[in-house]
Amino acid sequence: MIQSYEPLLALFHSHLEKYKSGLSTLEPEELYAPENYILSLGGKRVRPLLALIACDLFGAPPQRALNAALCVELFHNFSLIHDDILDQAPLRRNQPTVHHKWNTNIAILSGDVMLVKAFDVLQSEPAEQMIPLWRVFTKTAIEVCEGQQWDMNFEQEAEVSVEAYLKMITYKTAVLLGCSLRMGAICAGAGEAAQEAIYHFGKHLGIAFQLLDDKLDAFAEDAEAFGKQTGGDIISNKKTFLLLKAFEMANAGQRKRLQEALQIKADKAAEKVQLVKTIYSELGIEQLVQQEADLHTSKAIAYLHALNVNNDKKVLLEQFAGALLNRSV
Ligand code: IPE
Ligand code: IPE
Ligand code: MG
Ligand code: MG
Ligand code: MG
Repeated sequence: MIQSYEPLLALFHSHLEKYKSGLSTLEPEELYAPENYILSLGGKRVRPLLALIACDLFGAPPQRALNAALCVELFHNFSLIHDDILDQAPLRRNQPTVHHKWNTNIAILSGDVMLVKAFDVLQSEPAEQMIPLWRVFTKTAIEVCEGQQWDMNFEQEAEVSVEAYLKMITYKTAVLLGCSLRMGAICAGAGEAAQEAIYHFGKHLGIAFQLLDDKLDAFAEDAEAFGKQTGGDIISNKKTFLLLKAFEMANAGQRKRLQEALQIKADKAAEKVQLVKTIYSELGIEQLVQQEADLHTSKAIAYLHALNVNNDKKVLLEQFAGALLNRSV
């Protein structure tokens, strides 16, 4: 990410290592080995970093947000284990997904216990912060499930509006970024208005983040670094911004080719991905997704600018948002 945040990242990693060393003593091993596995595969650590950044932004030592940071990263990794079952994904962070490496039952149960532990790590927070932390986290966790259900419903629906898509990604992805920042702000003792503003910054950043994830799913230049099956969204008929825009922009011939491509079954996945990507390229879809993501990043930045905090720290966070928007993984 950006260099100035490396100390915060290191701080989180040492907290995570301590948590992970506690895992190795737990039984039964089959329940906890997948948790250790997925947490050890790395990832960008965007959400815990956001929690620490927000705590620091509102003038408190970032150490105070370490448990909140762990909470959101545990929740995120739980959601990935279950998401990979739902999406039938073979690869995560360039390694076999939990349900492929073990099996679906183990993936369900190890995910479940991680979700519970995400709540559990908040227990040691000071009493006056625990309820506000718990409130925003609970609301967010429910919304993520709602977003995931919409995502699955849309696979079967022929027509999904851009508005419905934006709501779906807000729920499945964006609110957790907002929540991570808000939890960091709560740990710093920030007031309600500041908490709201930083939440909305994160929410819009999260919308841009998921738009880019959709783009990279089809067009990642370095598929290995991106770490997921290229074209996974195309294979499972996900109603991504790319597909919705393609239908909107297509001429009659392109529309027919697109509709035919969507009927292709998983045994001819490579052919399907190629056909759809060709149409995306003809229509300049990659650029359109980027534009939409830029729009949401600008909205995010406007919330950030309105905050009354140290200007240097604001600039850093704005750079971080820019780096997230231009990421290649
Ligand atoms: C993947 O999130 C799931 C989405 C919400 C797009 P990340 O891209 O943050 O995944 P990791 O943690 O870096 O692997
Ligand atoms: C992720 O959406 C949303 C959650 C994990 C809650 P995706 O299905 O696009 O995420 P990836 O691409 O598998 O990481
Ligand atoms: Mg997925
Ligand atoms: Mg998914
Ligand atoms: Mg994706």
